[in-house]
Amino acid sequence: MKNINETLEKILQKVTPLIGQGKTAAYIPALANINPNQLGIAICDINGKVYSAGDANTPFSIQSICKVFTLSLALKIYDSDIWQRVGREPSGQKFNSLIQLESEQGIPRNPFINAGALLICDMLESRCSAPNYQLLELLRKLSGNYRIKTDAKVARSEMQHSARNAAVAYLMKSYQNFDNNVETVLESYAHHCAIEMNCIELAKASIYLANKGSSLDSKVQVLSAEHVKKVNAVLATCGLYDASGDFAFRVGLPGKSGVGGGIIAIIPGRYSVCVWSPELNEAGNSLAGTAALELLSQALDSSVF
Ligand code: DON
Repeated sequence: MKNINETLEKILQKVTPLIGQGKTAAYIPALANINPNQLGIAICDINGKVYSAGDANTPFSIQSICKVFTLSLALKIYDSDIWQRVGREPSGQKFNSLIQLESEQGIPRNPFINAGALLICDMLESRCSAPNYQLLELLRKLSGNYRIKTDAKVARSEMQHSARNAAVAYLMKSYQNFDNNVETVLESYAHHCAIEMNCIELAKASIYLANKGSSLDSKVQVLSAEHVKKVNAVLATCGLYDASGDFAFRVGLPGKSGVGGGIIAIIPGRYSVCVWSPELNEAGNSLAGTAALELLSQALDSSVF
């Protein structure tokens, strides 16, 4: 790759016309009003060199991308015991679906659908004195920005529209697969989703997934290399919900999306990437962002398949 910055600029130019074809996340009012005409991308290599284009410095709501980092925190504490309480199969359902939980005795299909992420928050609540602070500290250390914070307005907006997540959590509780107070865990989850970061920070923070578990400066071993392989496998099969198959087909990388319009993707042994554009497709994933990652994966010849 001769000039990565130039390649990134060209990719953004190509996908910009897609803006207008998707919808911002209307179900959280604080996210619905965001300016849709924004598009940014950043790549970080395993030596810490960062390339970026477009609105890569603009902070956005990381939403479900937080689930990668909470899972990593929980794996560090619980090790493989996690998999007794949450599965690792794609759900083929919307990210906030309740359907399978009922027929599968309150065991969420995977840690990236809402049920699984709420369960992981419950597990963190049981063993961490301040899970929200611990997550923020991890993201600050990994990204190198010590001012990363939660947008309180987005967290409040999410809490005001959390009936479905509450239903999911109570259903798990009815099957004895949820230990803590539901409201406490919902608050914690809403705060994680409402963290604000930009593409450069998220690309840097995710590099451990491309780098055998180690942070950029090797000061933090976020996960063991063995756990990283497994997290990447679950990202590749479940990270984009019921569009995970399409994402594997088009992009071919482990990835995680959020309804704020961000998507992180991992090119094992080489790069971590973050793309952001607020308009979403039907499955709740960034429409222009997915297209940008498809072009990037082709340009870097990086599909893992
Ligand atoms: O639980 C929710 O509804 C959101 N705050 C997070 C969901 C999300 O980002 C789904 N991702 N595509």
